[in-house]
Parts: sequence; structure tokens; C-alpha cells
Amino acid sequence: MLTPTGEIVADAKRRGVGAGAFNVITVEHAEAVVTGAEAAGCAVILQISENAVRFHHGRLAPIAAAAKAVAELSSVPVGLHLDHVESDELFDQAAGNGFGSAMYDASKLEYAGNVAATARAVARGHACGLWVESELGEVGGKDGAHKPGVRTDPDEAAQFVRATGVDALAVAVGSAHAMTTQDARLDHDLIARIRNAVAVPLVLHGSSGVPDDELRAAVRGGLVKVNIGTALNIAFTGAIREAIRRDANVVDPRKYLRDARDEMAETVTHALQVLTAAA
Ligand code: G3H
Ligand code: ZN
Repeated sequence: MLTPTGEIVADAKRRGVGAGAFNVITVEHAEAVVTGAEAAGCAVILQISENAVRFHHGRLAPIAAAAKAVAELSSVPVGLHLDHVESDELFDQAAGNGFGSAMYDASKLEYAGNVAATARAVARGHACGLWVESELGEVGGKDGAHKPGVRTDPDEAAQFVRATGVDALAVAVGSAHAMTTQDARLDHDLIARIRNAVAVPLVLHGSSGVPDDELRAAVRGGLVKVNIGTALNIAFTGAIREAIRRDANVVDPRKYLRDARDEMAETVTHALQVLTAAA
């Protein structure tokens, strides 16, 4: 059943477990995430990033409608989240397309600019019932706050949350986006200091590169929403590569997309078991 993201995250926080949020690019991703969550018996969050919208010719509605329909038919609670939104125009389409939440990403701006832009987005988001996530960008560049080596300062984080009114904060604690190896090391002392300074739920981005034991420790330490994208694409593409290796003459996409969807679902089930075993 389609469920507000804020409810899923608040429930996970209360129970001391992680809420898995998985990036959706194709309909098969959405189906796999929900199948994997049903197998684990866990709530889950489907998230569509601005980059994914760009891939769909800049149109949010078709992929959002598909993900929403998959969520509505699920037997577990499923949130719908618009991820890494830099465009105000796209952010303002979230509520009308069924999203319960959005991440407004002004992390490439310097601190004052990030605060001002985020506070404006939070006000607009709250006015239409959205739960809004944001993040601090200490360093500019492609990955903003999620470049390797970047760290969130606990005092600045507390000030940022007060000044913007965000509902959740993405923090830079050692993970990096798009890693294809699982060997990131997190700064657990820093996670504890940020958790003590900030009352809203904390979000870990770039979680595909974080080993399972580090993820469990991060959730025990106070991370709540855990974003996973690349791990699904590794499963998706690996399965297709293998299917084509088995039968180089295959032409029916259902033959290899079925394998890709099954592999992604298994990845989701495993990740949710890790996140919920943390309590
Ligand atoms: O917002 C999405 C995530 O941070 C996903 O990162 O693709 O490195 O797992 P990842
Ligand atoms: Zn991210």
C-alpha cells in the first residue's frame, strides 16, 4: 500500500531499524523493489531521482505513475520519494504526482545559499504535505556532500536543520555515490556526534559501497533512511550480461529482464534483512 515516506521513516526510527530506499529507473526496478520487500516482510521506499527523470525525456509523470501503481498493489507499506532534486520546477511536481516526499538538493551551493534555497523549498513542500529531505554541501562539484572525504559538521548540521525546517538530513560520513565495490568505511564517531546534535532522522546516501557490517553499525548508531541505487544496477546488468552469454541469439527482452528483476529483488531482500537486523 502507498504510504507516506515520513511514516515509514518515523516507524523505522522508533524501532531502531533502517528504512531502505531504492532507486527506480525502470518499471522492473519498482517491481523488484516491492517483490524484494514483500519477501523480507518490510516497508520500503521507491525513489526516483532527477537523473532518472532526465533519462525518461525529462518527464516525471510516466515513471512516477508506474511506481505509484506498483506501490498501491503491494502488501507492504511503500513510500514514493523524489530524489536529488535540484530543479525547483521538478520539486514542485512531486506532490501532484503522488510522492509523499522529496529530497531537495542544494548541496552544491555554499552554506548560506543552500540554507536559503532549502528553506524556500521546505516551505513550498510542507504547504502541499511533502516530507522534505535535504543535505549540507561542504564542497562543490559533481557529488556535492557525497564526494569521498567530505564530512558533515555536527554543529553546522544542527544549525542547518533549525534554519531550514527540513524533516530529514542526508549526512556525509564516509560513503560515496556509485561505488561498485563494497569497501567504504564510515566514521561512526561522527555519526554519533551528528545524531546527538540533530533531532530529525539522518539519511545515508551512496550505501551500495558500504559493507553489510558497516551498514548495521551505522543504523545502530542512528542512521535511519538508507539509500541504495548502484547495487540494483549491478544486479540488473549482471543478470542481463549472463542471460546474453547463455544465449547470444536471445531477442525477447522478457527473457533477460525477468532475470534482471529477480536478481534486483534478491538484492533488495538481502539489504532489508541487513537494515532490520541492526536493532
Ligand atoms: O540517493 C541515492 C543514493 O545515494 C544511491 O547511492 O547508487 O551509490 O547506492 P548508490
Ligand atoms: Zn544520493
